[in-house]
Amino acid sequence: RKKVTIQTIASLYRKKTPITMVTAFDYPTGILADRGHCDICLVGDSLAMVALGYDSTAMLTVHDMIHHSNAVARGCTKAFRVVDMPTGSYQISPEEALTNAFRLVKEGRAEAVKVEGGVEIADTVRRIVQAGIPVMGHIGLKPQHETALGGFKIQGKTAKKAEIILQDALALQEAGCFSLVIECVPSQVGETITQLLHIPTIGIGAGAHTSGQVLVNMDMLGIFDRFVPKFCKVYGHFGRDMAKAVEQYCTEVRNGQFPDPESHSYAMASPKEQEEWA
Ligand code: KIV
Ligand code: NA
Repeated sequence: RKKVTIQTIASLYRKKTPITMVTAFDYPTGILADRGHCDICLVGDSLAMVALGYDSTAMLTVHDMIHHSNAVARGCTKAFRVVDMPTGSYQISPEEALTNAFRLVKEGRAEAVKVEGGVEIADTVRRIVQAGIPVMGHIGLKPQHETALGGFKIQGKTAKKAEIILQDALALQEAGCFSLVIECVPSQVGETITQLLHIPTIGIGAGAHTSGQVLVNMDMLGIFDRFVPKFCKVYGHFGRDMAKAVEQYCTEVRNGQFPDPESHSYAMASPKEQEEWA
């Protein structure tokens, strides 16, 4: 499979081929994104919850993202790698945002960065794009605003609220984003925004009419099940299967079934071999 580049994504969009994106946070999940033939691999800050056990993304640092992004890059060499800028790393000033974006590229091997927001971050996006770093925007439900929103809630349910999200989308497109994530909005909002833009939209809980879809790996694999949003389809119950495997291993150690004397054990060298090696 050929390396997915920003041109590949533009070409998928032109041909109206749905763009696929999945998250990853370490070496094996990076490999998974490639083996699953995903177009884009997102090192999302959802790793705070699904890989690190935090309650929100708030505590993640640029250093944390670099650490995870590097591990992903060692496993994921084909999919286009987008890395989330953690909260606080791009809101202070466009200059500080650019410094942090460059750190994600140089130290974390990001090919693009993703930022949440709209009109208010347009100048920052422009600054990063002009420096040569592709930027993906993230509108609708912005998990980094969870506390301010009072939880993870569907956005854009009224025409007025939907219009604000559309203005955010247009501002990000104008600022130079190559693509936008739209999270947790009515299907109609996802569809309308997609129709009005000339850059690909990647939906999560935004209906079937965006240019592509993204899911959080541990959610769709059924590994992280503390809560699974309505919009997530679970494609396998691997958390349950993994726990069963560990349990079986423990049972077999306790009852002497593992290790097997033949298949999982080593023998001494034969007397002849021992003589030859002496
Ligand atoms: O952090 C993340 O996983 C994301 C996706 C849900 C788009 O931002
Ligand atoms: Na994110």
